[in-house]
Amino acid sequence: MSASSAALPRLLGGFSSEERLVPPADESPLKSTHCQKKPKFCCWFLVLFFLLVVFWCCVVSWWENFPLHKHYDGFSNQCYKDKEPVFQVNQKHSGMLTETHTTTEPPTVQPGIRYHQAYPRNYQFVMDNRDVCKSRTPFLVLMVPVAPHNVAARDAIRQTWGKESVVQGEVVLTLFMLGLSNDADTEKIKQENEQHHDLIQSSFMDTYLNLTIKTLVIMDWLATRCPTAAYAMKVDSDMFLNIDNLVMMLQKPGIPKLNYLTGMLMWDRPVIRSKDSKWYVPEEMYPDPQYPTYTLGMGYVFSNDLPWKFVVVSKYIKPFNIEDAYIGMCMKKLGLAPTSPPDPSQFKAYNSKYNRCEYSKIITYILGTSEELKKTWNDYKKPGLHC
Ligand SMILES: *[C@@H]1O[C@H](CO)[C@@H](O)[C@H](O)[C@H]1NC(C)=O
Repeated sequence: MSASSAALPRLLGGFSSEERLVPPADESPLKSTHCQKKPKFCCWFLVLFFLLVVFWCCVVSWWENFPLHKHYDGFSNQCYKDKEPVFQVNQKHSGMLTETHTTTEPPTVQPGIRYHQAYPRNYQFVMDNRDVCKSRTPFLVLMVPVAPHNVAARDAIRQTWGKESVVQGEVVLTLFMLGLSNDADTEKIKQENEQHHDLIQSSFMDTYLNLTIKTLVIMDWLATRCPTAAYAMKVDSDMFLNIDNLVMMLQKPGIPKLNYLTGMLMWDRPVIRSKDSKWYVPEEMYPDPQYPTYTLGMGYVFSNDLPWKFVVVSKYIKPFNIEDAYIGMCMKKLGLAPTSPPDPSQFKAYNSKYNRCEYSKIITYILGTSEELKKTWNDYKKPGLHC
């Protein structure tokens, strides 16, 4: 795939092929030599044509924005977006993207049918520690999706792997992503955030089937509120995370700084069509029998240029409820693939029994409860040899 500079702004601005009719600025019809020879007819015709194009552009823009999704905060009133540099477009969305992004390869996706449900800009942050990355530049941001009511999980993480703000000499930040829930106490959540300043809440309904939205909202937050961070990780709240080993892995020479996604790689996974399964996906949502290569959702690590690209391509990928496979689809659409970690055995899913020696070597393990996390961590952190 080759990056077409013309295709990209259209992609970001959300324009269809009609906009190719708008002439580029340096080929303005009014300046053409042809016009000087036959001024009257030619110029009037071109002015009329130009106005028609502008009108068409506005109609398309209105049609796409207004009736389908009122909350869409994207490109309303902007007919000329396809002439603007990509990064200005993004600054309008976020007000915070810095030029760090200009050093990255832009996504090379062909625009196509647009899907809105998982596109994170359809939702708003209702709680937003938007300045946490302004006072410091994190090396790594840990983003933990968690249900609003699950204070126990958040507290356990704050007491364990989320506690450390400097790991192996690098700044690490841990934040929690919440959606909306009818059975959560809004006041309590506010107080919790006033105490810890680590909650982000977005305006979608926090349900199991909406986990893909949650992941994309995490990506949106990283891209707009924390673009200067080097790496980020989406990590589930029931995980044991050996944060020292993770930072050391990322410090290794040769670890890519861009387009890097790693974790426990899943190859050629079949889509589950059995309706009783937690991972059931109907064919209408995802017709292929297999997923592209993806990283298991328990904990995947990525260079922080990717979130912005995921946000951009999510508009063109039909949402389905398996968030990790969805990120695999985003990678595929971007012409990228997940990378195996330097030591693949460090990303573990299930473990039968806690083992102090083994936990000193790995990066992830899935645990059962918050109690288990605290117990395991306390033992692991006890002084003395691990093996
Ligand atoms: C997902 O979130 C959207 C937006 O809040 C909501 O309309 C929808 O009902 C939710 N879907 C499910 C399956 O919970």
